[in-house]
Amino acid sequence: MKAVVIRKHGGPDVLSYEVIMNPTPKKGHVIVKVDYCAVNHLDIWVRKGLPGKKVSFPHILGCDICGTLVNDSGSFKKNEKVVVYPAVESGIPRVSYSIIGAFGKYQGGYAEFIQVPQQNIIKKPSWLSDEEACALNVSYLTAWNMLERSNCKKNDIMLIWGANSGVGSASILLAKAKGIQVITVASDMKKINQAKKLGADNIIDRSKSDIGSEVLKYTKNDGVDAVIDHVGAKTWPISLNVLKVGGKILACGTTTGSDATINIREFYSKEAQIIGAYLGTKSQLVSLHKFMKLKKIRPIIDSIYKLKDARHAHEKMDNGNQFGKIVLKI
Ligand SMILES: NC(=O)c1ccc[n+]([C@@H]2O[C@H](COP(=O)([O-])OP(=O)(O)OC[C@H]3O[C@@H](n4cnc5c(N)ncnc54)[C@H](OP(=O)(O)O)[C@@H]3O)[C@@H](O)[C@H]2O)c1
Repeated sequence: MKAVVIRKHGGPDVLSYEVIMNPTPKKGHVIVKVDYCAVNHLDIWVRKGLPGKKVSFPHILGCDICGTLVNDSGSFKKNEKVVVYPAVESGIPRVSYSIIGAFGKYQGGYAEFIQVPQQNIIKKPSWLSDEEACALNVSYLTAWNMLERSNCKKNDIMLIWGANSGVGSASILLAKAKGIQVITVASDMKKINQAKKLGADNIIDRSKSDIGSEVLKYTKNDGVDAVIDHVGAKTWPISLNVLKVGGKILACGTTTGSDATINIREFYSKEAQIIGAYLGTKSQLVSLHKFMKLKKIRPIIDSIYKLKDARHAHEKMDNGNQFGKIVLKI
């Protein structure tokens, strides 16, 4: 089969388009013909390598998959369209699960075929195209998990970092559909205009403004009920600073680094909560499908690349030039 393989960590040039052996079916697993695989920042982390995280080479990236079942499996029939829930048992003490195509034992979806545990298969939402359906399993699921756990209600105010990111754009769409007021952050006019189209109520241009003061201005100094922070070290201090008493930081990413310094006194005197989110459960993915259908929400697709052009897709994400999901057509 054709696949994009990495044989070492590095820049986009380590993504190598090759012909390799098809996966052989194992007990309790199914083979899926991959139709589309969305690119996630996680793919960048795995490509570059992270301290203490092992990958056995050659490795195939890609955790956000929509495809076609190759054989009957349980209640699923051959040729049925499916999406893949990306979390699998990690087998590592105190680590709940690992992610397909990432730092675990499963190869990912930058390939014509993939082998996944049978229980990870979910029927593809019929009202979405294949390229849209593949985009929900990681960023949208994590955004949904964070929104649910924020307990934010209609008219509550939420700060969502990175309007253009997979997680940020998903969070804006889903939060607006729940009636939450959204303040978001973007870094240029193009991204600001796109964030407006998603329905964000206030958009802060981080290339020009002091984000903390702008958020306080928009909330009349009250602060926000919750912050969705996937940016990490550089944004955590601001996220805490703009939080109102009893507010929550929902944290899922470390794009700018994982060692943040925050003011502990500020943290406890605000009775703040910091909640970590790692994807979400399979049942949350199913409830996300239902919610998006009910609210007629379609995921934001930035661009579609051919599998052989995966390195260009990575270059685009490395440069932060996307708005929404970058998808590979396999
Ligand atoms: N825990 C989980 O289960 C989970 C799931 C999904 C994603 N994640 C993590 O969440 C993060 C986002 O993932 P993604 O796929 O959505 O990434 P992405 O599409 O590549 O977006 C990265 C975002 O970070 C913003 N950013 C970068 N530097 C910044 C700074 N100094 N200040 C403010 N914003 C900054 C970018 O904004 P500009 O373009 O405006 O610079 C962009 O919006 C990644 O770290 C990823 O690993 C975790």
